[in-house]
Amino acid sequence: KSAPAPESAGGGERFSQSGFIFAAIGSAVGLGNMWKFPYITGKYGGAAFFLMFIVCLLAVGLPVLMAELTIGRGGRGSVSTSFNRLTKKKGWGTLGFLMVLAPFLILSFYAVIAGWTLYYAVQSFSGNLFSNSDYSATFGSFIGSWQPVWWMLLALVLTAFVIIKGVSSGIEKFNKILIPGLVILLVALVIRALTLKGAGDGVSFFLEPDFSKLTAQSALIALGHAFFSLSLGMGTMITYGAYVDKRQSLGVGTMAIGLGDLLYALLAGLIIFPTSFAFGIEPGQGPGLVFVALPAAFAAMPFGSLFGGLFFVLLAFAALTSTVGLLEVPVAFVRERFGWSRGKSVIIITLLIFIIGIPSAVSVGGAVDISFGHKTFFDWMDFICSYILLPVGGLIVTIFVGWIWRDAAKEAGVKSSWLYVWLFMVRYIAPILVLLVLLHSTGALDF
Ligand code: PFF
Repeated sequence: KSAPAPESAGGGERFSQSGFIFAAIGSAVGLGNMWKFPYITGKYGGAAFFLMFIVCLLAVGLPVLMAELTIGRGGRGSVSTSFNRLTKKKGWGTLGFLMVLAPFLILSFYAVIAGWTLYYAVQSFSGNLFSNSDYSATFGSFIGSWQPVWWMLLALVLTAFVIIKGVSSGIEKFNKILIPGLVILLVALVIRALTLKGAGDGVSFFLEPDFSKLTAQSALIALGHAFFSLSLGMGTMITYGAYVDKRQSLGVGTMAIGLGDLLYALLAGLIIFPTSFAFGIEPGQGPGLVFVALPAAFAAMPFGSLFGGLFFVLLAFAALTSTVGLLEVPVAFVRERFGWSRGKSVIIITLLIFIIGIPSAVSVGGAVDISFGHKTFFDWMDFICSYILLPVGGLIVTIFVGWIWRDAAKEAGVKSSWLYVWLFMVRYIAPILVLLVLLHSTGALDF
């Protein structure tokens, strides 16, 4: 049986109603939407993949998101504490700890890419990015050097500054400024992209589905991405949930976060595909799409260095509102576990993440060869986090809310038929589909 957490739990820190929505959208919207989503959409079928992503987001992502927020608000603690408060059954605190590991490790390589975006923003505004025309070589020599280590450190330090200030004057304020800023930049860039000559082909590729391109594999990739994009399975939404006011509707919050995330993916697609098609760039070319192809497109536009600079600032903003959500998870955990102050926790965790991030930063571009099997250290981190820890986290959450914690529905506050829909998805559909993603990504299931 659950014991409701005291209102003072979690240090009593709280988001305001709108602050919570901004912070959660900030966490959801990130490199996943603007860097990863376009190239996997390019690779796995364009509009048909986008449609699949929307279905996964609505049918599985939102119920799991709601489940995570509910655990956080019910338990009022960091991931592991919340589990322990809500059930007397043994082992759930340890499973919660496993979920703390994911954001800790994810941040170590996510911050590397966040660092790239900061570097590209600076290089673009200064015009240096456009001083030679081989963008592939420019990108290769940057990521093949030790420079990304320092840019990653900058991304981590900026993140740490926000987290040190706490929930309402740090996370909430930061997101309330950056999220509207992002919308303005995105809309400006969408207008620019849609008015390019030849943009129409990019729009059709992105929005006119060709169902023959849908495969079981692309459906599982879409589901995995819906999880990553909504920041699920990694404790962020549980941790943020702990700071949500009891009077706030979690159902409305969940919808707002889901729609926000979808809207940003849509806008990002409306920038990247029209631009790629207008300049004859292959949209399925992989992680380099944003860093190699788009600079070439910006260089060929009037005021390209301004638009390019804005684009990379946008990416950096999106990345930082997510790194903030990632860092808060282990920080909340060690504060509770060891009773450390916020400042001490932030400094120690950030330093550890920086150290673990160094092999990722130098291996991804080949500055130092650290690889096992056919994967670099960076690829291993991404693989272990995105394809193993994240679905495992998703399973833990759905099993806990669907089968273990009896009072989940009461805390969630969902009423009438929505309650049955939610519980049905969390109990049966989500765990089965997430298990399929896990089996597929570990190679146990192949098609
Ligand atoms: N949702 C983020 C993105 O799409 O880039 C990634 C992410 C951020 C995952 C924060 C998990 C998290 F806790």
